[in-house]
Amino acid sequence: MPRISQLYFKTAILFLLIGIIMGLKMAISGDHSVIGAHAHCNLLGWVTMAIFGGYHALNPHKAEKRIAMIQYYVYTAGIALMVPSLYLMLQGNAAMEPIVAIASLVTLAGVLLFAFIIFSGEKVAVTPPAPSYR
Ligand code: HEM
Repeated sequence: MPRISQLYFKTAILFLLIGIIMGLKMAISGDHSVIGAHAHCNLLGWVTMAIFGGYHALNPHKAEKRIAMIQYYVYTAGIALMVPSLYLMLQGNAAMEPIVAIASLVTLAGVLLFAFIIFSGEKVAVTPPAPSYR
């Protein structure tokens, strides 16, 4: 598996653990106010990152490109900033709102970079036909 896929899965599993802890905390306390942070942590952190990692595993030549690592850092920074700031905002800390906004824009930039990676040119392997001995 390419290094970036490993990195994505390692990061994704951390977000799943954090997301599940948040979910259990909500379930036990009965206070569901941080539902948005829980859902975004699980869906943008665990699910989406696992899809990004899987895409690179299926396209190893794209995984080696510099843009792939840049995209990983931008997207991960966005989610790593969004989850705690959204959590605090939903707990009533209104001062977190601009941080959530910035984190959302950084996340969007990460997704746009991934769209660029998806649409960037495919290398078509040209294999010569096998020689015929007849
Ligand atoms: C042990 C694991 C988990 C626990 C204990 C848990 C717990 C919860 C709780 C208590 C809620 C609030 C429900 C409500 O107020 O209506 C919730 C909502 C939600 N959870 Fe989880 N969750 C877990 C895992 C996950 C995972 C893995 C995902 C996604 C991959 C996820 C996605 C969501 C979403 C999208 C919502 C919002 C649902 C809605 O608004 O209707 N959860 N979860």
